[in-house]
Amino acid sequence: MLYIGVDLGTSAVKLLLMDASGEIKKIVSKEYPLYFPHPGWSEQKPEDWFAQTMEGLKELLAECDKSQVAGISFGGQMHGLVVLDEKDEVIRPAILWNDGRTTEECDYLNNVIGKEKLSEYTANISFTGFTAPKILWMKNKEPENFARIKKIMLPKDYIAYKLTGVHCTDVSDASGMLVFDVKNRCWSKEMLEICGINESQMAKIYESYESVGCVLPEIAAELGIPETTKVAAGAGDNAAAAVGTGTVGDGQCNISLGTSGTVFISSEKFGVDKNNALHAFAHADGNYHLMGCMLSAASCNKWWMDEIIGTTDYAAEQKQIEKLGENHVYFLPYLMGERSPHNDPNARATFIGMTMDTTRADMTQAVLEGVAFALRDSLEVARSLGISIERTKICGGGAKSPLWKKIIANVLNIKVDVLANEEGPSMGGAMLAAVACGEYANVEEAAAKIVKVVDTVEPDAELAAKYEARYQQFKQIYPAVKPIFPLIQ
Ligand code: XUL
Repeated sequence: MLYIGVDLGTSAVKLLLMDASGEIKKIVSKEYPLYFPHPGWSEQKPEDWFAQTMEGLKELLAECDKSQVAGISFGGQMHGLVVLDEKDEVIRPAILWNDGRTTEECDYLNNVIGKEKLSEYTANISFTGFTAPKILWMKNKEPENFARIKKIMLPKDYIAYKLTGVHCTDVSDASGMLVFDVKNRCWSKEMLEICGINESQMAKIYESYESVGCVLPEIAAELGIPETTKVAAGAGDNAAAAVGTGTVGDGQCNISLGTSGTVFISSEKFGVDKNNALHAFAHADGNYHLMGCMLSAASCNKWWMDEIIGTTDYAAEQKQIEKLGENHVYFLPYLMGERSPHNDPNARATFIGMTMDTTRADMTQAVLEGVAFALRDSLEVARSLGISIERTKICGGGAKSPLWKKIIANVLNIKVDVLANEEGPSMGGAMLAAVACGEYANVEEAAAKIVKVVDTVEPDAELAAKYEARYQQFKQIYPAVKPIFPLIQ
């Protein structure tokens, strides 16, 4: 049997075809535009996602025995607000996870409703990228559009709807909406009321590995796959990545170096960070997780390479880097503001420390190190909660760079387990489909049988000590420049 994982990302949709043993047969990627209609805003068209997913599926399946396709599932960019009218047509472009327009609505939620209440209802507080403040933004700023909302969906759920006709979501992705009672895995009546919406506007909730139905006959015909092909609810991209890297059960860690950067810690028990700096979400394996999310991670390096120095040869630039731990240049990676741990949509990226002898390689190194230091910020929050992390898995585009993995192992001073592939969310999506089809008894069994560690990057004591000193300096930069950010918007 064959299983398809669809990773609906921010720069592209990545599709992966896997056989029952977890062997990857083919990977296809299809890009779509990202719109920044105002500084700090970030939107995409759900219609583009679906069109490119269908194109990608056709290419993915071109050479295989299509009659063997048994299941499809997802990892999807989280928090995006997709709104449909009574004809199930998209009302406005989706407002994405890295959009910073909802400062006022977040202030209202965190300060007027109050963080304690939010945390009681949802296990989380409000961040600009979360879905509830976007719903309130629409209510305040686009009342005509708001009045037309029949269904509120998350990005990957729109694709599931187009494939099956079912309005569904899963517990891990719903967790990032701030209208979901994470502990009890159901919609929060209080939060729906605060947002001025009702439960009939929300999708039906599934566990990530549950089937929501089969593909519609017209989809089956267009793709040439059986009408019995099951679609499983899938997961938010970080929970899907955690499945794809075997970060399931208790106390496991995964770092995702994609457009965003996340530190994901799986947990068998529900738990909340008392300061709500880490998100407390449901996991795709039926349990829970804590997560820190930085808004710009591999995207900082992509921006620096593509837009600023103008190259596509990332590896050649990284080859010039020789002095790990000795760079005097620092980079704050806040190109889209920052979520964890600063919760500051006004924050901006910053280089500091250059001198006349600073080289292009020093600047590139500062970008890679700045992302690693910011990941460490999230790890430190977890450590402050008494969670001890000695090793992590790693996935995402940035994880292809051996140098970046070495920097991360030494900055975080933990072992980095390298897997046979970096395809976190799409692999996790395919694995969830396999579980939904009964190929594996549960997510943990699928992870144990499929995920293989092929190497481990160990921190080097001398280098880790150098980075420890530099991290202590890095930590002082954001508080020092923070008052300037609102002045330079
Ligand atoms: C997680 C988050 C990002 C997006 C990226 O909270 O906002 O990781 O899911 O796709």
